[in-house]
Amino acid sequence: MKTKRITLGLTGGIAIYKSAALLRRLVSDDGADVTVIMTAAAQKFMSPLIFETFSGKPVVTEMFSREKVYTRHIDLGQDVDMVLVCPATANILAKAANGLADDMLSTVILTAGAKTVFALAMNSNMYANPITQANIRTLRELGYGIIEPESGELACKDPGKGRLAEESVILDYVRQRLSGAKQLSGKRVVVTAGPTREYLDPVRFISNRSSGKMGYALAAEARQQGADVVLISGPGYGEIPPGVRLIRVETARQMQQALREHGKDADYLFMAAAVEDISPVSQAGTKIKKSELPEAIMVTRSPDLLLDFREANQATCVVAFSVEMEDGHQRSIAKMQAKGADYIVWNDPSVAGAAFAGDTNEVILLAAEGQEWQLPLASKRAIARQIIDHVVTHRKGD
Ligand SMILES: Cc1cc2nc3c(=O)[nH]c(=O)nc-3n(C[C@H](O)[C@H](O)[C@H](O)COP(=O)(O)O)c2cc1C
Repeated sequence: MKTKRITLGLTGGIAIYKSAALLRRLVSDDGADVTVIMTAAAQKFMSPLIFETFSGKPVVTEMFSREKVYTRHIDLGQDVDMVLVCPATANILAKAANGLADDMLSTVILTAGAKTVFALAMNSNMYANPITQANIRTLRELGYGIIEPESGELACKDPGKGRLAEESVILDYVRQRLSGAKQLSGKRVVVTAGPTREYLDPVRFISNRSSGKMGYALAAEARQQGADVVLISGPGYGEIPPGVRLIRVETARQMQQALREHGKDADYLFMAAAVEDISPVSQAGTKIKKSELPEAIMVTRSPDLLLDFREANQATCVVAFSVEMEDGHQRSIAKMQAKGADYIVWNDPSVAGAAFAGDTNEVILLAAEGQEWQLPLASKRAIARQIIDHVVTHRKGD
């Protein structure tokens, strides 16, 4: 990070005391050139002196300085590699999401745009407030970096989510984003997508409402992150992501075969396909005449693709997907355990804007080790980015 220039924005939250140590790490360990901006509220919590000492330069506190004529409100956003806001209050998020520029930091953020990263810290009610969530969503969609807060006891003694992420998590995020390193470089990733069709005869089949969009978004994102990607797709109608190897299948058995062939020794499997659970016991070779259609169709369970894959590929990181409504949390964990998956993405189709054919999704990512991450409503591509980000970062911490 020797040549990296960072503007560190400090806002009015208790966690500001942690930013002094963070600044020290950025400057002393990483050799970054850091300029600190403090909001008026931030200065109520700590004096600029400590940050001046650690950064080795004056802390910017005023928009309109009479001593020097500067265009710092532009320079500090435009000429830097990153604006890191840590801690980031609910207030600064709201200002950034709405384009407000009424003090030095918010003006610099507006200039820097998606170069800005917010490390959130606030009371759990402030965090959970739908207005804050909508602001986070807006910023995320625009490509701003969001370092989610952690759960635990907060300064106000309330339990819940809102505590600033650990220093190591913030540093890792900053280093990764600044280096432009791709998270999945050199990795082999297999993604399954879409529904399968279980044929009764050549023109009739049993299937489900899956559109395949989530799997296509995962494949596109994994490719963007440098992976060698094989997308095994049922009849989805998504645009084929560039650079991704597409294997088209129709039935559960064909998908199973494709997984056996192309999934061997993959580093990651994202099993986003909605494999149809039931198949007609027999398939007619030619279209059954209407007059000869049976009164009832005998069905059997389709093969269990995940179990089959896991048996043959112990080392692959397997991310399963579930679509569950009632007792969804528990049922998803049970499914993850039963399939030997490392993670499961729980979709609840009763949530507005979630799952199936739409372009947005809202999911909960659960880890076999017990961690869970709530990924609020966003485009399927943004959800895919977060799933990959959480899984890769979490595995690195293992
Ligand atoms: C003791 C105390 C602690 C606070 N901690 C936080 C906090 O952690 N997160 C937050 O969003 N707001 C917190 N606030 C409220 C902010 O300081 C307030 O919204 C302020 O206007 C933020 O201004 P700024 O975003 O310009 O720094 C706290 C207020 C007080 C009095």
